[in-house]
Amino acid sequence: MKVVRAKDELCSALEPLHGSRIGLVPTMGAFHDGHLALLRAARKECDTVVCSLFINPTQFGQSEDLERYPRNEARDLELARAEGVDFLFAPSPEEIYPPGFETRVEPERLALELEGVIRPTHFRGVATICLKLFNIVRPNVAYFGAKDAQQLAVIERLVLDLDLELEIRPVETVRDDDGLALSSRNVHLSPAERKVALALPRALELGAEAERDGGDPVVTARAALSEEPGLKTQYVAVADYAGPRLLAAVQVGKTRLIDNVTLEGTKR
Ligand code: PAJ
Repeated sequence: MKVVRAKDELCSALEPLHGSRIGLVPTMGAFHDGHLALLRAARKECDTVVCSLFINPTQFGQSEDLERYPRNEARDLELARAEGVDFLFAPSPEEIYPPGFETRVEPERLALELEGVIRPTHFRGVATICLKLFNIVRPNVAYFGAKDAQQLAVIERLVLDLDLELEIRPVETVRDDDGLALSSRNVHLSPAERKVALALPRALELGAEAERDGGDPVVTARAALSEEPGLKTQYVAVADYAGPRLLAAVQVGKTRLIDNVTLEGTKR
C-alpha cells in the first residue's frame, strides 16, 4: 500500500491504471468495520483500490465536533493495508483547500431536509469534497455506506446532475452485535450513554415492523424514542433515498447519532 499526501503524486501514480477498474472509498478515518466493509467491497470488485482519509473541515458546522473528531492515522494505515488497499490518499487541508479556494458545489432540495435542517452547510461540504476526490482519482466506482442514507442520495444526485462518469455503490449498514450502527463517533459514548443509544436502532426496527403490519413507522419510532429519557430526538422521518427508508437522528449527551432502516414501502 502506498500512502500518498499530494494530489499530483496520486494522479501520476493512477495515470497508467485508468484502463483497469479503479474503486474509491472516501472516508474521514477512525476506521471501524463499516469502513472495512466498504474497502472489502471495493477490493472484491476493483483492480485498484484507493481509500481517501481526509477529515474534511468544510462539512463541519461552526459549533460542531471537528476538533474532537477521532483521529488515529497509524491504526487506520494498518487496517487499510490489511484490507489490501493499493493507495491511501491522506492529504493535508492545505493540499485540498489551498489559499484562494472559493468554489463550492451546492446541492439543493435533498440537502435541505433532515440532516440539512440541523447542519445547513454540511452537504455542500460533502458534495464539494466528493467531487474533488472524484476528479483527482477518476474512479470507475465509489463506495458509500447506507448508514448515511441522505449523504448517499446527495452523492447519487451529484453524479446524475453533473454528468459524472462513475458508479456509486451503496454498502449496507454494519452494526455491532447489540444493534448499534457502527460510527466513528460511538467512541465518545460512555457505557451508560451507549445503553441509551440502543433505543435508536430499536425504535427504527419497531417502526419498520409497524409499517409491515400496516401501521405508521414514524409515529411508532417516535413513541419508542420518547420512552428513553436519556436522549433527545432531532427527527424521525420517512424518505425515499434509493428506496423508502425510516431515518432518525438523536442526541445522547454530547454525541449526535443518525441511523436508518429500509422500509418495504407497501404503505406509501
Ligand atoms: P465517514 O463518516 O468516515 O464514512 C465513510 C464512509 O463509511 C461513508 O460512506 C459512510 O456512510 C460509511 N459508513 C460509516 N459507518 C458505516 C456503517 N456502520 N456501515 C456501513 N458504512 C458505514 O461519510 C464520511 O466519512 C464523509 O462524509 C465523506 C463521504 C468521506 C466525505 O468527507
